[in-house]
This record gives sequence, C-alpha cells and structure tokens, in this order.
Amino acid sequence: MKVFITGDLPIVAEKQLKKAGFTVKINRNQKQLTKAELISGAKNADAVISLLSNKIDMEVIDCLSKCRVIANYAVGYNNIDLEYARKKNIIVTNTPDVLTDATADIAMGLILAVTRRFYESEKLVRDKKFVGWQPKLLLGSSLQNKTLGIIGAGRIGYATALRAKAFGMKIIYFSRSRNEDFDEKLNAKKVSLPKLMNAADVISLHLPLNERTKNIVNSKMLDLMKSSSGLINTARGEVLNEIHLIKLLKKKKIFGAGFDVYQNEPEINHELLKLENVYLLPHIGSATIEARNQMAEIAAQNVINVLNGKKPITPV
Ligand code: DGY
Repeated sequence: MKVFITGDLPIVAEKQLKKAGFTVKINRNQKQLTKAELISGAKNADAVISLLSNKIDMEVIDCLSKCRVIANYAVGYNNIDLEYARKKNIIVTNTPDVLTDATADIAMGLILAVTRRFYESEKLVRDKKFVGWQPKLLLGSSLQNKTLGIIGAGRIGYATALRAKAFGMKIIYFSRSRNEDFDEKLNAKKVSLPKLMNAADVISLHLPLNERTKNIVNSKMLDLMKSSSGLINTARGEVLNEIHLIKLLKKKKIFGAGFDVYQNEPEINHELLKLENVYLLPHIGSATIEARNQMAEIAAQNVINVLNGKKPITPV
C-alpha cells in the first residue's frame, strides 16, 4: 500500500511506515504544494500525511479514490474538510498533546517579549544606540499581579496559563464550557469574551479555527482592550480581525502584539513589518525537535493502524 507524505517530515515517519511494509512517496520540496501537485501526489495513495498548509477541500478529496486516512501533521485540522472526508469514509487524524508544551513556551515567550519590549531593546543595541544604563530606558510592564486572559481553554491554553501563573499572573478565561483545571488548579475565573477583552493585561488566543471561532476576536472585541494591554496569537490567524488590530497598534491604542500565525499565512500584512513592539514568528509553535519527532511518530502510527484495519490513535 502507498502512503503520500506532502512535506519533508522527520525521518522517523518514513522509517516506521517502511518497516510496516508500505511504499512511501515524499514531497521533499520546501515550496508549498499547489492543489494540482497535491492531487497528483495523493490520488493513488492509500493514505496521506498532510501539512496544515495543504488545503484538503472537496475537490482534493474527490480525487482521493483509494485513500482511507488523512493524517494531519498538526493538532489543528481546519485545512481539511472534515465533514466531506467523513462522507467519503476517510478517517482524519491529528497530533494532539505532544506539541502542547512547545506551543505554550512560544506563547509565554511572546508574552515576555511584548511586555518587556525585547525587539526595541535588541534593536537599540544593534543600532549602536545603547549609551549606558538609564532609569527610564525602554520601560515595560511587569507580569506580577497582572491578568492574563486566555481565549480557548484547551490543552495549550491551559499550559500557557500554567506558565503565566508561575510568573505571578492572575488568570481569567473565555471558553464555551467551564474547565475544572482552570478553576481549581489555577484559581482562574471563566468570564464572557467582552469582559475578558476589557479586563486582561495580556490576551492569549488558543482557539481551534472553525465556523464558530472565525473572526471571534472582531473589531468590536478588540476595541475593548486597554491601551496598556498586549495580544498574543499562537492559534490561527483567522480567529482575529488582523486589520483592525493593526489599526489599534498604529494608533498606539494597545501596547503590543505577538504573532505566530497570520490571517493570510504565509503572507504577512506589510503594515505589521513596520510596527514596533510587534513580534512576528513564522508559525513555529510546535517547532522543537522533540515535538516534531513525536508528531511524525503519531501521524505514521495513525496511518499504520488504519491501513491495518485497526483504530487510529488520535482520530479527530
Ligand atoms: C498545529 O499543530 O496546529 C500548530 O499550529 C503547528 O505548530
């Protein structure tokens, strides 16, 4: 049986699949696959391991005549038309848990970078403008006793809140349902979205992208933010009105922002590039050797299980 891997994954996936007796075809090109390339690579495959940048819509799924499983190499699966895949009896899997800490670390890093103005500080030194210690040089704001608002109280939201708690932050969260771990272990309070936007000193987004969450942090919500507050997005670009956020940043209506994801990824709004106290990372939330290896193992195991008639380990 044939497996098509749409990107150059850690070698462990290929090894596992070959050991299990499958023929593996890999797109080793660093460039993103076009739809035509994706279809051409996947059309005869019994399984596909996909990247979050591969849009697997109806048109693609209709060409996957032999495919029994699409194993997405990500925890998010908004790139796949799940309903249609189900209709076509294709199982979809993801890679939860193993990237939780890596992504929460990046969120915490962005929180620190924004509140303590890493970029402006770094730039000052590199521009050879550091002339000595000064009492008012690049003052940021402390995290102790400040409030972190977590939007989306899942695994990564919780892991980020846990880190922030160690820095002395109070936690509030917005989520559809109450999360006992937030309530009991973090002494966090569940609040409405407008309340969170208005009360938090730092807001961190951890929502999956779907029809319910698309543009949930809209212009009305963003306008509720305090001028001293910062916003971090390590979830998906489309949960946020990026254009409006840029307007607020330009007018200095909020203190700063940190992005790991973008509305039109991989394109970056050029306005963002000009702004200070804005951090722009290239979607590296899960980019640790450990997390990426484990993601590859899970994706491969899902394929092996399904093609051998067993249950996948992490279906979505
Ligand atoms: C995911 O897995 O969905 C992340 O965005 C990858 O870093």
